[in-house]
Amino acid sequence: MNRKNLDVIISAEEISHKVTGLADEISRDYKEKNLLLVCVLKGAIIFTGDLMRRLKVPLEIDFMAVSSYGADTASSGVVRIMKDLDRSIKGKDVLIVEDVIDTGLTLSYLHANLLSRNPASLKVVTLLDKPDRRRVVFEADYCGFKIPDKFVVGYGLDYGEHYRQLADICIFRNDAG
Ligand code: IMP
Ligand code: MG
Repeated sequence: MNRKNLDVIISAEEISHKVTGLADEISRDYKEKNLLLVCVLKGAIIFTGDLMRRLKVPLEIDFMAVSSYGADTASSGVVRIMKDLDRSIKGKDVLIVEDVIDTGLTLSYLHANLLSRNPASLKVVTLLDKPDRRRVVFEADYCGFKIPDKFVVGYGLDYGEHYRQLADICIFRNDAG
């Protein structure tokens, strides 16, 4: 793999340490609850896998895939559900697991959508947050790292479907322009 355009900003060791901390916090908060992790495909798969193995409470997992509509309507915050959950979330303590919050449009849509399905509770954990890019107000309940306004890849995050398998999170420099 060509790593010429990649600069590590968060190492695998730092990620691992952070995920352990998040899992401890979530385990404390979800004692005696009906935890259902909703992994947002595809970027959150590695984070979800690492997080769930460190959680000390019983849990279930389900998956959603969403994609933004074309450039024109992206500003409306309308996202399309490409794959919906397999089961009802009514009465469950749902925790959305996301890779990165950027403009906030995806998660504000997803949050409102899942809230309308009457879960017992609904929270969000994101590994990364780019607060400078926000176009709508949205705060995660649990956040791994706040990062600057740079495009990053690795640990599940992609550029054109590539680089998801990198163990570190890296800034991607598109030198081609
Ligand atoms: P938002 O709706 O702008 O918050 O978009 C969030 C989604 O955009 C994430 O789930 C990612 O799929 C994608 N995304 C945002 N920033 C990055 C990045 O730096 N690298 C890879 N994907 C990103
Ligand atoms: Mg994503």
